[in-house]
Amino acid sequence: MTAATPSATPPAQPPTDRRISARVGAISESATLAVDAKAKALKAAGRPVIGFGAGEPDFPTPDYIVEAAVAAAREPRFHRYTPAGGLPELKSAIAEKTLRDSGYRVEPSQILVTNGGKQAIYQAFATLLDEGDEVIVPAPYWTTYPESIRLAGGVPVEVTADETTGYRVSVEQLEAARTARTKVVLFVSPSNPTGAVYPREQVEAIGTWAAQHGLWVLTDEIYEHLVYGDAEFTSLPVAVPEIADRCVVVNGVAKTYAMTGWRVGWIIGPQDVVKAATNLQSHATSNVSNVSQAAALAAVSGGLDAVAEMRTAFDRRRRTIVRMLNEIDGVLCPEPEGAFYAYPSVKALLGKEIRGRRPATSVELAALILEEAEVAVVPGEAFGTPGYLRLSYALGDEDLAEGVSRLQQLLAEARD
Ligand SMILES: Cc1ncc(COP(=O)(O)O)c(C=O)c1O
Repeated sequence: MTAATPSATPPAQPPTDRRISARVGAISESATLAVDAKAKALKAAGRPVIGFGAGEPDFPTPDYIVEAAVAAAREPRFHRYTPAGGLPELKSAIAEKTLRDSGYRVEPSQILVTNGGKQAIYQAFATLLDEGDEVIVPAPYWTTYPESIRLAGGVPVEVTADETTGYRVSVEQLEAARTARTKVVLFVSPSNPTGAVYPREQVEAIGTWAAQHGLWVLTDEIYEHLVYGDAEFTSLPVAVPEIADRCVVVNGVAKTYAMTGWRVGWIIGPQDVVKAATNLQSHATSNVSNVSQAAALAAVSGGLDAVAEMRTAFDRRRRTIVRMLNEIDGVLCPEPEGAFYAYPSVKALLGKEIRGRRPATSVELAALILEEAEVAVVPGEAFGTPGYLRLSYALGDEDLAEGVSRLQQLLAEARD
């Protein structure tokens, strides 16, 4: 036996000693899921924890959707692999629903059905980005965006907006962040975590600016049906049709139909991008579960009554939570116009003494709130903006009122 001759200088650390790749090792746990898991664990242990952490409707999935899934589970053709990019009948129904709901006309060949909006976002970035490509990400941002950009080799470039502009970024701010490496701008309205909704003129201004500079837009429309008061949802490629060839829309059934656990989302984009993303999915996961796709088909082909009911409940809770939060000294909560999150600033409370402790950051304040008031909230650090808390108001009215009054009692104790 002859010994192999090394053809190059051996790496400083042999691959076998690196247990986890640098790429995956750099990903942090989803902070929102972590808070939710901690709250659920405490509850399971008998503690009366009230959770404002979860980003999911508290309603069950409507019956007609569940029934469609039950019927699908009995159909032998659904016991087999189906096309990786999605059931053809579901893709057609998504195209029709998109025209009905946002006025965007697309072909089924422009659609890829994914395992939830999360996979849609990850695959869209993996399909669009090369190593070092920059993505402008308005902050506060949903925690998954920067991680999926980095996983795809891209570089997230944050542009921060605060409560003084209702957490909306301006074209001037975006332009200041643009470099020769900028490829994509991320847009989400209504927003998680702030509930901000961009008015049509601002959507047009951002889309037109992106089109003028040859940028791509990834627009996340998952909260399209959850807008309140006078706010209106505007689909970016409808407001700015010239961006359509460089625009990827992300959407899904999770929030509109109370279907977070079913895991169905989709990408809408130019055909070449969707084809490439479908090739990726064909190796990663193949088709989304057929039973879930059948449920999604019933959801998107049905009416919008269920979401109208949820919207009424969310709107009521939204007004209660904003009022009660603003009653607390040191808490400033602008009125969210969409989604189901309130995003108050708690900067004025940091450094104050509460029950013998002086939380210096929103992470420490959230920990203190969980321990002392048994209320779970997500600190702003998870969304790129320390000094804030995110409270989801997708929980029952009584729990909501009880949870925020516990917060009121605890935070009223804050002293210099
Ligand atoms: C802004 C936004 N986009 C996408 C998603 C993804 O939802 P899902 O993967 O459950 O479809 C979420 C979920 O929290 C979200 O808040």
